[in-house]
Amino acid sequence: MGASDVSTARPLGVGLLGLGVVGSAVAAGLMAGRGELAGEGARPLVLRKALVRDLRRKRTVDLDPGVLTTDPAAVLDDPSVDVVVEVMGGEQPAFDYISRAIRGGKHVVTANKEVLCKRGDELFTLAAEHGVRLLHEASVGGGIPIVGPLSSDLLANRIESIRAIINGTTNYILTKMAAQGAGFDQVLEEAKKLGYAEADPTSDVDGWDAAYKIAVLARVAFGVSVPLDAVHREGIRGLEAQEFRYAATLGYTIKLLAVARREQGGLLVRVHPALIPSSVPMAKVDGVLNVVEVEGDLVGPLWLQGRGAGPDATASAVLGDLLRIARGAEIRKNVAAARSADRLKLVSIDDHECKYYFRLVCKDRPGVLAQIAGILGKLQISIASVIQMDANAERGEADLVIMTHPSLERNVQKAVREIAALQVVARVASVLRVEAY
Ligand code: NAP
Ligand code: HSE
Repeated sequence: MGASDVSTARPLGVGLLGLGVVGSAVAAGLMAGRGELAGEGARPLVLRKALVRDLRRKRTVDLDPGVLTTDPAAVLDDPSVDVVVEVMGGEQPAFDYISRAIRGGKHVVTANKEVLCKRGDELFTLAAEHGVRLLHEASVGGGIPIVGPLSSDLLANRIESIRAIINGTTNYILTKMAAQGAGFDQVLEEAKKLGYAEADPTSDVDGWDAAYKIAVLARVAFGVSVPLDAVHREGIRGLEAQEFRYAATLGYTIKLLAVARREQGGLLVRVHPALIPSSVPMAKVDGVLNVVEVEGDLVGPLWLQGRGAGPDATASAVLGDLLRIARGAEIRKNVAAARSADRLKLVSIDDHECKYYFRLVCKDRPGVLAQIAGILGKLQISIASVIQMDANAERGEADLVIMTHPSLERNVQKAVREIAALQVVARVASVLRVEAY
């Protein structure tokens, strides 16, 4: 079907690609009658098919056996399926299946940030060419409504920045490390046992998941396509227990931030752990919670906090997109295109300026600080404070924690290389950006 006939009373057939955590909750919602909540005149949503890999796997929803299939064509080529919900994850075969659904004139709802980040250009173009909707509220922030507001309610704004905690697994790990003084590996194991972290937690702990999500948000908010390699990305794997203790002593906590902000005449998109003042609200967004802070020129600062993952919260977003389609709201041409008038260029982190936190494991003897200060001074990095923290008398070493005034990233990186080469420095244990609020 095309998009124009959504206002008739014929049910709107839904085909699920995936019946895992999210797919099962969406199916349960449809079976519980949530597909009829779009209001008078809207088409009720009816589940027609669900694609899985393993027909014998036990599901959390009881579906008619005729609904389950392992054949993608049974969903993608079924004329009674009007909307395809892709909740499989990954780039492939999700990309091929979404493309095929769109070419077949079906609307698509997806929760898949990875395919949107890597192949969004092609998919949004294809959807526009075929006059169908490609909605993706669940792809960022789980149940938090952020894609919808950026695409409609906030359209009149020039968005200045988006700053977010959008990975629940890493936020859980960082919260525990801060509260318990525990090491990364220990907390990661706990997170796996609780089912927050995947068996292979690479995507979360190395910042990929947050990078996909901030790239997806940047497209909606700034109208730019952000290739994954244009996102400056650092994960949390290297963080040691001392950082949390020292940060707290200095009045900070550590969060994995995902930021897209206008600066240097362009847009800088970055994901990295950062020191944030313990007094700001974002410092109190703990555990698996997510938050997205938006700054628009008319609306000012906005704050959206909630469950960034989990079956029900994510199903809330997917079902909301389905109901929007059922309501037959006018197709909005690619919102990214509407916002791209000022043709923002993507800029490198090299020219980013902020305060920095350094922890250096140094020889505990006279003259060490002078050598380090010499390098910093030469590179225009002004020291705000220096504190000697834990000392290891046996090794004759101590942790030197230096806070800087705002400094240029490229100079800081150069300083780190020079400091690491000093005989008196055993290692540069940590270099963290301090986020300004
Ligand atoms: P999941 O529990 O692993 O479920 C994936 C489902 O897709 C399973 O039912 C699986 O079939 C099916 N599937 C995967 N590859 C397939 C293939 N090649 N052919 C047929 N079926 C296939 O994943 P999930 O947690 O629901 O996540 C789904 C999507 O939502 C991902 O893009 C994820 O990033 C996104 N998301 C998840 C959450 C969350 O809280 N989980 C939150 C926001 C967004 P079997 O069941 O037979 O194995
Ligand atoms: N792995 C993701 C997280 C799930 O930890 O936030 C939601 O996309």
